[in-house]
Amino acid sequence: MNRSPLPHDPLPFGARLPRVVVAPPGPASKALAARLSRTEARTVTWLSPEFPVFWTDARGANVRDADGNEYLDLNGAFGVAVAGHAHPRITEVIRRQAGRLAHGMGDIHPPRVKVELLERLAELAPWGPADTRILLANSGSEAVEAALKTALLATGRPGIVAFEGAYHGLTLGALASTFRDHFRGPFRERLYPGVGFVPFPDTMEDGESGAQAALEALEQALDDGEERGHPVGTVLLEPIQGRGGVRVPPPGFLREVARRARRRGALVLFDEIYTGLGRTGTLFALEAEGVVPDLLCIGKALGGGLPLSACMGPAAVMDAWPPSTGEAIHTSTFLGHPLACAAALAFLDVLEEEGLVERAQAMGETLVTQMAEALADIPGIRGIRGRGMFQGIVVGGPGWPEGVGGREVMLAALRRGLIVLPAGARGEVVELSPPLTLTTGQLEAAVEGLAEAVKEVALREST
Ligand SMILES: Cc1ncc(COP(=O)(O)O)c(C=O)c1O
Repeated sequence: MNRSPLPHDPLPFGARLPRVVVAPPGPASKALAARLSRTEARTVTWLSPEFPVFWTDARGANVRDADGNEYLDLNGAFGVAVAGHAHPRITEVIRRQAGRLAHGMGDIHPPRVKVELLERLAELAPWGPADTRILLANSGSEAVEAALKTALLATGRPGIVAFEGAYHGLTLGALASTFRDHFRGPFRERLYPGVGFVPFPDTMEDGESGAQAALEALEQALDDGEERGHPVGTVLLEPIQGRGGVRVPPPGFLREVARRARRRGALVLFDEIYTGLGRTGTLFALEAEGVVPDLLCIGKALGGGLPLSACMGPAAVMDAWPPSTGEAIHTSTFLGHPLACAAALAFLDVLEEEGLVERAQAMGETLVTQMAEALADIPGIRGIRGRGMFQGIVVGGPGWPEGVGGREVMLAALRRGLIVLPAGARGEVVELSPPLTLTTGQLEAAVEGLAEAVKEVALREST
């Protein structure tokens, strides 16, 4: 694997490994939590005796909290920090851009840098630079909204098929295709009712037969759409489900979904907001099967830490949008924000020049091998699944204590200076999406600390 040093200092805190000086959350974080609770809507931040720690600085894979604790961020801050936190090249570009033009007029007098980013993205997109058309947005959910609108315009068919376990965001349009009742329940009356959910086969849990059953369910959902007056124009899926638990479908599944959807007049929309831009060891996860969707959403990593996302597609689909006649029917105040566009260009340079996509593949293999070895003697581990630097440790097998899961592992890891999040329908997965700039030393420390955290939880009494 590529062990060559990165061209910037990945250990700028001088502490290559986690360094917990006071049990998190320390007094400074607790004081901030008390202040936060007086102003922030209570639905946002999880305030518990053990959570959260408040971040003050982050560089590379390191994060420092308000009490001076230093962590390894194995979540990459929701998968955003693909090039690490505050990469010096990206930071410098943001600083320079902020001094020139910090805000433009998105669809009226756009910033010049937006053109440069659009051209760059078109070169990377699977349809090639001449045929790709792009709609920028600010968040992942917004990119999904834009793609759903595009598919409706292009097909005239409002129905959607999405997948069980899917996460596409929480704005109302995207939420209608997000699976978990936890998010949907309170807003059910506001959600578009023409979405059918079908099972998403996970290679580890369902094997080949799972794919067959899912494809049959897809056919059924396409039929149901016609019958219920919601003919399906969009089949929406993550090539690897992220928050659903890092679930990887069996080979050939994505291709077969695309074939069946198109045969029935629907477009295939890949949500690569989490998996895109190198995370899985290829630029896009779709490359693993060589299947080209009709629409593609990216976000998270794209802005190099700033909010930016995109809905992309070939002209034949994207030109379903009418030309703007001065009052664009889809835009927003911050569309094509110059800081985010400049940061995205710098991020894409870093991704390429530092070989981060290849690094994701090589590092991912090392991570899986070392993690499997470290977890070998711990009861209740059902496996590790994923691709590249997108992996999930699945717990809850025989011998695992009842009533605990990824959430408890998250807390045990935090006390060891490691940041991870739970994923999966029952929180049974410890999701790993670290920066691709993680060094081998950091990776080894992460594996050792995580295995200790998992073991601590595994050996607990059932609750
Ligand atoms: C696959 C996927 N789609 C969409 C989203 C929503 O993105 P955002 O939170 O930026 O709206 C997420 C966020 O985690 C995601 O993982």
